[in-house]
Amino acid sequence: MPRRATLADIDVMAAIHAGAFPPPDAWSRDIFDLHLGQPNVFGLLHPSGGTIMVRFAAGEAEILTLAVLPDARRGGIGRALLRHAMALSASIGVQSVFLEVSVANAAAHRLYVAAGFVPVGRRPRYYTDRSDALVMRLDLEQCGEGHHRP
Ligand SMILES: CC(C)(COP(=O)(O)OP(=O)(O)OC[C@H]1O[C@@H](n2cnc3c(N)ncnc32)[C@H](O)[C@@H]1OP(=O)(O)O)[C@@H](O)C(=O)NCCC(=O)NCCS
Repeated sequence: MPRRATLADIDVMAAIHAGAFPPPDAWSRDIFDLHLGQPNVFGLLHPSGGTIMVRFAAGEAEILTLAVLPDARRGGIGRALLRHAMALSASIGVQSVFLEVSVANAAAHRLYVAAGFVPVGRRPRYYTDRSDALVMRLDLEQCGEGHHRP
């Protein structure tokens, strides 16, 4: 089960990121520190080796990163992190969630499409490997319990 990440988790989150992305794309602990220290960012950590970070503002949110360690993949961790992050986003009043994913990243693309994300734009040569980014959006169902802080 994913749980809320705190600043005490940034070393673990950076280690997962370093295992999941090639060196030029891996985020340092300082980047996690910077993001998680913001009041409008939340992170989730899966004990089996995955993490997700989301920034939210004015009814919209953006998935900043999602990473699962290679040895832990295809076990539902990415899907669980995404599902929990979307439920938490809805509970704090987020209506639409955006993300960027490389057109070359078939695994992530399939995961996002299965979760209901639809393509809404494209950023040419966005990534370090010069692949294009697909911008995707998911409109969330509101949970109707009133909004509360994450
Ligand atoms: C993308 C990523 C987070 C998926 O994590 P995961 O834990 O392996 O994903 P799940 O096991 O929850 O898979 C959920 C669904 O995603 C799709 N999927 C995941 N990996 C896939 C792969 N290698 N090939 C095709 N589809 C894949 C499938 O539809 C899968 O459902 P299924 O297993 O029932 O077929 C992981 O591969 C990863 O960390 N990749 C490197 C970092 C990255 O690309 N992050 C996203 C940046 S936008």
